[in-house]
Amino acid sequence: MEYSKASVVSVREIAPSIYDMLLKAPGIAKEARPGQFICLYSEDSAHLLPRPISICEVFPDHVRLVFRIAGYGTKELSLKKEGETVTVLGPIGNGYPEFESGKSITVVGGGIGIPPMLYLARKLHENGNEVNVVLGYRDAGLFLNEAFAGYGKVYIATDDGSVGYHGNVVGLIETEKLPVDTVCACGPMPMLKGLAAYTEANGGKAYISLEERMACGVGACLGCITKTKETDGHSHVKNKRICTEGPVFDSSELDFGGAKR
Ligand SMILES: Cc1cc2nc3c(=O)[nH]c(=O)nc-3n(C[C@H](O)[C@H](O)[C@H](O)COP(=O)(O)OP(=O)(O)OC[C@H]3O[C@@H](n4cnc5c(N)ncnc54)[C@H](O)[C@@H]3O)c2cc1C
Ligand code: FES
Repeated sequence: MEYSKASVVSVREIAPSIYDMLLKAPGIAKEARPGQFICLYSEDSAHLLPRPISICEVFPDHVRLVFRIAGYGTKELSLKKEGETVTVLGPIGNGYPEFESGKSITVVGGGIGIPPMLYLARKLHENGNEVNVVLGYRDAGLFLNEAFAGYGKVYIATDDGSVGYHGNVVGLIETEKLPVDTVCACGPMPMLKGLAAYTEANGGKAYISLEERMACGVGACLGCITKTKETDGHSHVKNKRICTEGPVFDSSELDFGGAKR
């Protein structure tokens, strides 16, 4: 993992305030695994902290990122033009575990937690797994749903009922009786908490990616800790850094009472 300059191939808006960016970054593309992320640095020295963005897809020399404008940094990224460069660090984090082939795996993304699930769904499909994809959106402003279709059966839930199942992803999974032996997910904390509880209650394993607020992104500041159920004799709590020990955790390790969102 090292700092590098990635050149911008394209940036386009694919849904309101959601941007799809293709970067030429051969070093990152070569190493990236599903569930990892990269840190992108602002050109403006007043904004020193990097913006962590998940790897959405990987091509031989390129990585695709899909992000929502949330503040200064993501706005700056959305305005990048073809040929400009951005300083990046990565790939960072553990990513999803490597599963044996022939398993039935349910991949779940909610809102801006959807992008990292695309590369995961592709890899699982290529590895001979049966993939069910469950995507949760607020409303009809869908994005990336068509890209998943090549990798598994896609189910859509919307909060307002405008497309697909009216309700959340857990309700959809329950209604459709989708398998939850192995679930991989990324999305807002209430979704992850509900999904983990449902999966564990049905005897399955959930691997969830926590896209929490970060600062340094490289394990140095403890700005991203999450509470786990592990204890040690000294402090009696075992916090983990999402940036280096995550962002993907086995949900049974986590103490959701300590989650920040
Ligand atoms: C591992 C990981 C993967 C992520 N992947 C994606 C993705 O694929 N697509 C996407 O749209 N968003 C993703 N996010 C959230 C994204 O990092 C924030 O929306 C972004 O950092 C906001 O920066 P900003 O300057 O636009 O907003 P501001 O609010 O101005 O940011 C101020 C500071 O807070 C940090 N910050 C603010 N919100 C978040 C947040 N939710 N998570 C982490 N740091 C935050 C910023 O990095 C920055 O240092 C991810 C976050 C994490 C931790
Ligand atoms: S963001 Fe600094 S330790 Fe994780």
